[in-house]
Amino acid sequence: MDLLNVENLTVAFQSEGKLLPAVSGVSFRVGNGEILALVGESGCGKSVTCMALAKLLPESAKILSGRVELMTRDGERVDVLSLTGRALRKIRGGEIGYIFQEPSVSLNPVFRIGEQIAEALRLHRPDVEDPWSEAVELLKRVGIPDPAGRVWRYPHEMSGGMQQRVMIAMAIASRPSLLVADEPTTALDVTIQAQILDLLLELRKTLGMSIILVTHNLGIVSETADRVAVMYAGQIVELAPARELVEAPLHPYTRALLAAVPVLGHEAGRLATIPGTVPLPGDFPAGCRFSNRCPLCGEIPTDDRRKCCEIAPPLKDCGNGHFCACHRVKGKDQSS
Ligand SMILES: Nc1ncnc2c1ncn2[C@@H]1O[C@H](COP(=O)(O)OP(=O)(O)OP(=O)(O)O)[C@@H](O)[C@H]1O
Ligand SMILES: [Mg+2]
Repeated sequence: MDLLNVENLTVAFQSEGKLLPAVSGVSFRVGNGEILALVGESGCGKSVTCMALAKLLPESAKILSGRVELMTRDGERVDVLSLTGRALRKIRGGEIGYIFQEPSVSLNPVFRIGEQIAEALRLHRPDVEDPWSEAVELLKRVGIPDPAGRVWRYPHEMSGGMQQRVMIAMAIASRPSLLVADEPTTALDVTIQAQILDLLLELRKTLGMSIILVTHNLGIVSETADRVAVMYAGQIVELAPARELVEAPLHPYTRALLAAVPVLGHEAGRLATIPGTVPLPGDFPAGCRFSNRCPLCGEIPTDDRRKCCEIAPPLKDCGNGHFCACHRVKGKDQSS
């Protein structure tokens, strides 16, 4: 049974008396011990989707529809979106851990590293008798040299890569079954990025966690993730096993994204860019939201183009766990 099942999640922001949808009808699942990557350009709704999973959205956000079913450690299936108060706090940072791009979001500059990890332990694992020693163990686990010394340090006394490791230590302190890593390596240089991704892979193995990995970088997903969901303008437009997505992408948006990033192991030719920008919520084109930037749509006869511009394409099952939302791509049970 899956660890997480997200169904038809729709989140809108209140702006000048209107509700503008940032995430629309998003559905996906995450298996036990699986790494699902969420990719897409800036503003596609990756972070809003992640924050919604534990109801961490700002006040101005409204969850208009959806279920977020999580299998808890006690073997209970809960709909996180219906929880409040203590039950919700148990899930947040307890069953679902978060790592963000910016250490400053999670690390408090005025407390020692050890105090911050110990606090997370007191909150979520009150059975731990000596939180300080456990904090040292956690720092060791995430590859911090001299953990017994570093546990006394303040965040600003560490490099960006080390701060990121401390954040991971804090996030795994509660032994979450799901770790949501929202661009955990974007602010780091390439070698440190690779180390942090290796660490996540190792933790997945040793702790049996599932991970949602948000990234701009399609180049790293085939090495790291099991499956990939590609988001565009608040929707999932393609979902497939990682290797298949990189080697045989179906959606024109995914193809364009792949052409725009150097993929490890592939010859890095001249990189393309995708003309235009992701539309803002409230400004999405009718029909397929990618239609106004889509190279396929621009090349086809006007009658066919009308379909792209008027009818929203459903996410079709293309076989072998590959799903794609494009009128130009055939589903496995379709002739057109
Ligand atoms: N607090 C907010 N108020 C209003 N709109 C918001 C808010 N947070 C996000 N949005 C809008 O929701 C949409 C999705 O944003 P989100 O942060 O999820 O994008 P993202 O895919 O995570 O992008 P990035 O790669 O830049 O992190 C964007 O259009 C954004 O402007
Ligand atoms: Mg984001």
